[in-house]
Amino acid sequence: MRLLVTGGAGYVGAIVARRLREAGHTSVVLDDLSAGHREAAGGDLTVGDFGDRRLVADLIASRRIEGVVHLAASSLVGESVQDPARYYRNNLERSLALLDTLRERGVGRFVFSSSAAVYGEPVALPMEEDHPTHPTNPYGETKLAFERALRWYHAAHGMEFVSLRYFNAAGSSPDGTLGEVHRPETHLVPNVLRAALLEEPVPIFGTDYATPDGTAVRDYVHVEDLADAHLMAIDHLQAHGGAMVFNLGNGAGFSVLEVIEAARKVTARPIAVRHCLRRPGDPESLVASSSRARLQLGWAPRYTHLVDILETAWRFQRNHPDGYSS
Ligand code: UFG
Repeated sequence: MRLLVTGGAGYVGAIVARRLREAGHTSVVLDDLSAGHREAAGGDLTVGDFGDRRLVADLIASRRIEGVVHLAASSLVGESVQDPARYYRNNLERSLALLDTLRERGVGRFVFSSSAAVYGEPVALPMEEDHPTHPTNPYGETKLAFERALRWYHAAHGMEFVSLRYFNAAGSSPDGTLGEVHRPETHLVPNVLRAALLEEPVPIFGTDYATPDGTAVRDYVHVEDLADAHLMAIDHLQAHGGAMVFNLGNGAGFSVLEVIEAARKVTARPIAVRHCLRRPGDPESLVASSSRARLQLGWAPRYTHLVDILETAWRFQRNHPDGYSS
């Protein structure tokens, strides 16, 4: 299929765009490079705003786009609490402009990069897709609002979609060329590995959670496994259409301290820690049940061990101590 990949110069997007190309699809990347990297995007990059109706309409016409994989978003929980307007604007308003342009131009297949943040604090673990959704931050709130819009566009206009609720994306492409670089970096795995590299302490945000060791628990899922799920979602939409939502996680939770301990093993370096207050908007524990994706898409994560995920991330980190060159 000829696909427009928004956010295809970003961490998950670049790996997804590459995987789609390897599988024989055309990935036309649209990214404003506010968080993405030219070097990561591969050859076919248009720099611009996915909410720009004329630009998107021109790309649809000139590149004969048949479907969209929408990964571009503002995606930091803490920032979303400080600056909710940015999240409503980028993740909802501009995404709705994109959806309208697609509807007007007759593009009816859509894969959406959603998040575990739609759930909020768990009432049961692992979380199924029908777990109550009470986001604890504007990031999750805007992802949920857009998912709901997709349902209504499906009912009214026949927009076929798959929404993929990632848990905590981690790891790098196994060849060490594509990985996680944010400025500033707020994510745990790159921060821990960077701390190992620079021999600086890593902050632990919250040591008083009601978890076995007091630190927050997350379900870390490898970006290559996320890329597999996007490919399967495209294949599924092409064959059957539909309006579907899937969790993507490993089904195992690891605390911040457990991630740091695993990183000590992988890097063979001591990693010092600094105890800090909880970060506003952070849920205590998030662990996925991905049985629906396993059953309906045939998805099964290949990276099921935390150390294997961290090893690929460490490879990228050592190759790119200062991030990408562009
Ligand atoms: N953390 C630290 N120290 C750090 C960085 C993070 O202790 O230097 C903690 C966080 O407070 C949190 C856990 O490690 O408890 C994981 O934090 P990340 O920033 O790596 O990931 P988040 O869980 O905040 O965010 C991820 C995705 C979001 C998604 C969210 C669901 O990046 O897109 O999961 O809540 F919305």
